[in-house]
Amino acid sequence: MRRPILAANWKMQKTTGEAAEFAARFVPLVKDADAVDIVVAPPFTALDRLGQALAGSNVALAAQNVNAEESGAFTGEISPGMLVDLDCRYAIVGHSERRTLYGESDDDVARKAAALFAAGLTPIVCIGESLEEREADRTFEVVERQIDGSLAGLRAESTAELVLAYEPIWAIGTGRTATPEIAQEVHAFVRDRLRRRFGAAADAIRIQYGGSVKPDNVDALMSQPDIDGALVGGASLDPEAFSRIVHFQQGTS
Ligand code: 13P
Repeated sequence: MRRPILAANWKMQKTTGEAAEFAARFVPLVKDADAVDIVVAPPFTALDRLGQALAGSNVALAAQNVNAEESGAFTGEISPGMLVDLDCRYAIVGHSERRTLYGESDDDVARKAAALFAAGLTPIVCIGESLEEREADRTFEVVERQIDGSLAGLRAESTAELVLAYEPIWAIGTGRTATPEIAQEVHAFVRDRLRRRFGAAADAIRIQYGGSVKPDNVDALMSQPDIDGALVGGASLDPEAFSRIVHFQQGTS
């Protein structure tokens, strides 16, 4: 059984004070949720304060990005070791906003994922097609290329720890969620591709769905056999809404 993993991606939102306020309301709401992994990824500036507010809770800290280098002349960048220093456990890499707005390639993502593993952190590697690619029937081709490229060099012993997030770009921030069936179809394809690459070890890899996940659609999504979690943007900014997502009900699609 794969342990579900529900992650909040706050993107460029919340100050340190707002992050602490969120934690004060959210932590008590989810303290009973002991069968799932709960993760919050604030902006870099709120990692320290949020980490202190989450200390001793069942909510783990994540970064939204990382540099693959450990230190040096890289103005504006943050290294894996700096995230370890702040008690981060995860980092999101290859989010579509980073790929499309900041030109990150599969190669960059693979280097970041490898650097995270080397530092003892777990990468959440994002993949997903654009609307144009879906309409041109290129979803599987794009996803396959992203998996192969973004996981290049992934070592067999790291496989079980890996988290993948399938986020169709057309569903992000649009309110247009993939139906559970559409999401499951791609998740099954991703799993099959991972099996061909890593064998039975692929069955331990958790694959999250992301793109307009809300309290009212999470149950149906989480009831699909290959959807092991959610990566949530907008709805994760509100403690009650994200708590409802963490407390999803399986089998109620
Ligand atoms: P929304 O939930 O706002 O659509 O964002 C999804 C996302 O990009 C999470 O990484």
